[in-house]
Amino acid sequence: MRHDMTMAALLLAPALAAAAPAAAPAAAPAAAPAAEFQAQIWASGCMACHGTEGKAEGVALTIGGRQADELYGILLAYKLGQRQGTIMQQHIKGYSDDELKRIAEHFARFK
Ligand code: HEC
Repeated sequence: MRHDMTMAALLLAPALAAAAPAAAPAAAPAAAPAAEFQAQIWASGCMACHGTEGKAEGVALTIGGRQADELYGILLAYKLGQRQGTIMQQHIKGYSDDELKRIAEHFARFK
């Protein structure tokens, strides 16, 4: 067992060493918009139907470029069962209110 772990460490060490210099310069600029990056990850679940910038083409409705408050209100209404649809009231249950707010802000950025 101990031998296996040592082997794994030996095998991983060069890979980590090789990755470190490449990752270091990229880390600084990427760190600033980390919150937006997180919102993008959450929003990626919406993009399959609503388009990468929320500009749907026929399948679902366009949500990109609309007011964040308006989108957030709609999403909360789906979550609370005040607004019915075929998909949205189910899909939206997986997100916290704060996540929905940030997803709404993400899509509102696209003009
Ligand atoms: C599987 C496809 C699908 C996914 C994934 C999806 N949607 Fe939707 N969305 C729809 C459909 C279809 C509607 C129309 C209402 C309905 O039938 O549920 C809709 C409606 C909406 C509306 C209302 C638009 C309006 O003008 O009435 C908003 C806002 C919205 N979606 C946002 C989102 C967000 C944000 C996500 C990700 C968290 C998301 N959707 C994920 C298919 C999807």
